[in-house]
Amino acid sequence: MADLSTVFTGIPFENPFLLASAPPTESESNIMRAFEAGWGGVVTKTIGLHPVANVRGPKTKFLRVDDGGVRLSMAKRPASTVIASWNWELISDKPLDWWIPRLTAIKKAWPNRVLVASIMAGSGNDKELRHWQTLAEGVQDAGVDAIELNFSCPHMDRIDMGSNIGKDKVLCSISTQAVRAVARVPVWVKLTPASADIVEEAEATFLGGADAISSSNTFPSLPPIDPATLDFEVSVDGYVASGGLGGPAILPQSLAKMAQMTQAFPDRAFSGIGGISTFDHALSYFLLGCGTIQVATAAMLDHAIGPNIIRGLRDGMSAFLERNADRGWTSLADFRGLRRGHVVAHSEIARPDAADYRGGVDEEAEGYAVEAAAR
Ligand SMILES: Cc1cc2nc3c(=O)[nH]c(=O)nc-3n(C[C@H](O)[C@H](O)[C@H](O)COP(=O)(O)O)c2cc1C
Repeated sequence: MADLSTVFTGIPFENPFLLASAPPTESESNIMRAFEAGWGGVVTKTIGLHPVANVRGPKTKFLRVDDGGVRLSMAKRPASTVIASWNWELISDKPLDWWIPRLTAIKKAWPNRVLVASIMAGSGNDKELRHWQTLAEGVQDAGVDAIELNFSCPHMDRIDMGSNIGKDKVLCSISTQAVRAVARVPVWVKLTPASADIVEEAEATFLGGADAISSSNTFPSLPPIDPATLDFEVSVDGYVASGGLGGPAILPQSLAKMAQMTQAFPDRAFSGIGGISTFDHALSYFLLGCGTIQVATAAMLDHAIGPNIIRGLRDGMSAFLERNADRGWTSLADFRGLRRGHVVAHSEIARPDAADYRGGVDEEAEGYAVEAAAR
């Protein structure tokens, strides 16, 4: 097998493939199984200090499209293919005290695999900022290799938590700084894709002291409505709240967010997430400049922790390196970021007659349009 190893935020990885923070990493037994299966790292299900009570009924469902058709529904049926997960699951319902001895045991059993603890607190006052520090100190004393700050959970009522931090660059910076002040291990930050310009939050996060950004978490979304019952396909007593879309459907959207950030900060570290189940999917993120990738939905659908997914990712990367051996490529570093510069302004894309385009402005350009026409 080719050498799949890499170094990301100073941490050596046997391979650049991690399980993302989600049900596959919600327990010690799952994480142990994941390492046995060959994952290079895992990010634990998010750990917090605030009360967690999930909704009644299913927390996650899978959206399917008919093979060769257009019907979109969560109904399980033959001749259909999963295109997305939809979930409104909250963070881990296990307290920090439950996690700490387990993190230590996992690290002791697998010292060469990378264990990242995902944590979440609020940001509205000093007490909440201290919660970030309590969580960070607890997990790092337990022996984790890095901490990932969850600024991206899309289903939070609190305005100072989850993706409501990720949509506010000041809260991004302050919360990162609070963790940075106590962290002895690398700090990764998981940003939400649900903001107008993710580059602004990324900049604030790096200014706050983050070592890497992970993206994307799920996209805010609703389940479809069943035309027969007129109820949402996921609901409790007929009611639904915003949840998160993951899986194949979000890959192109997540790539767009990632490209914005890797272009703005070409020398920074990024962990790509969203719609990955094969090495070809992962490759898109690597070519945009990511140094690792993470998987959730595809692993959930493959024996809960993705043994076949990780085998495919590793075999796929080995085969890719072998196919490109004549270019002298021996590791991820040789092809990482190769297509980062290929995302350009529309006016830089060739067209049959550039003179007809003028940046989309009228013949007599005025005001800002003059600048667009000149491009
Ligand atoms: C059921 C479920 C639970 C999740 N829980 C968390 C979580 O606790 N913390 C977190 O940062 N992300 C969470 N995520 C988001 C995933 O880590 C990931 O960012 C998202 O699903 C996109 O990746 P995918 O397309 O591979 O699923 C969850 C996703 C799912 C489907």
